[in-house]
Amino acid sequence: MRLQKYMAHSGAASRRKSEELIELGRVRVNDQIITELGYKVDPEKDRVYLDDRRLRLIKKHTYIALNKPLGVVSTVKDEKGRDAVVDLIDEEIRLYPVGRLDIDTTGLLILTDDGAVTNKLIHPRYNIEKTYIATVEGTPNKRELSILRKGFELGGEKFAPAKIKILKSFEEDSIIETIISEGKNHQVKRMYDYIKHPVKKLKRISIGEIQLGGLELGNYRYLTDEEIQYLKSIK
Ligand code: URA
Repeated sequence: MRLQKYMAHSGAASRRKSEELIELGRVRVNDQIITELGYKVDPEKDRVYLDDRRLRLIKKHTYIALNKPLGVVSTVKDEKGRDAVVDLIDEEIRLYPVGRLDIDTTGLLILTDDGAVTNKLIHPRYNIEKTYIATVEGTPNKRELSILRKGFELGGEKFAPAKIKILKSFEEDSIIETIISEGKNHQVKRMYDYIKHPVKKLKRISIGEIQLGGLELGNYRYLTDEEIQYLKSIK
């Protein structure tokens, strides 16, 4: 990283002002005063000083909301060579998907390099609601819906109560808003398999207060300061 960029990213001064400070001989890297503007520093190894004050990089995290398309895996790299969500993101830093969506599920996936936020979003303790729009075979009746609403046990595994709302009902299938706070593997599909209304199509539209909104399939956006603030404030 160039010295003036390092300085700007440490909050010492703007990049332009940093260049002036370098030319004035006020900047030291390890034991050496540096006056060359393009000087490269290794943020891991080099120590940078302005006058005698040590400058440290302020680490800013990156937060992205992606509308995951079909046929793309949510992992960082796929052993089978399939397309991965990170390949859709044009960022130099390595970002990690927060949880997973199945290869045939579309919708909101957050990617970040902030481990603390990742943990909050995936750990059941924080109870973050995730909203899915599921197209399922047929239309579940009241009894079947109440199984999902009350929660159930399958093979010793507990499925917590879900919020379920039928949005549209057709002859062959129905569209159902499904809100869960857990993140078990294939959870929504397993819920509807259990009541014998298999999922035909699945899309996630929100994670807590973060909404997919009008983001097109395969596109992404940076989270707003407000959204980031919300993620950090989760307790
Ligand atoms: N539930 C599923 O079944 N699949 C997903 O991708 C997400 C939730």
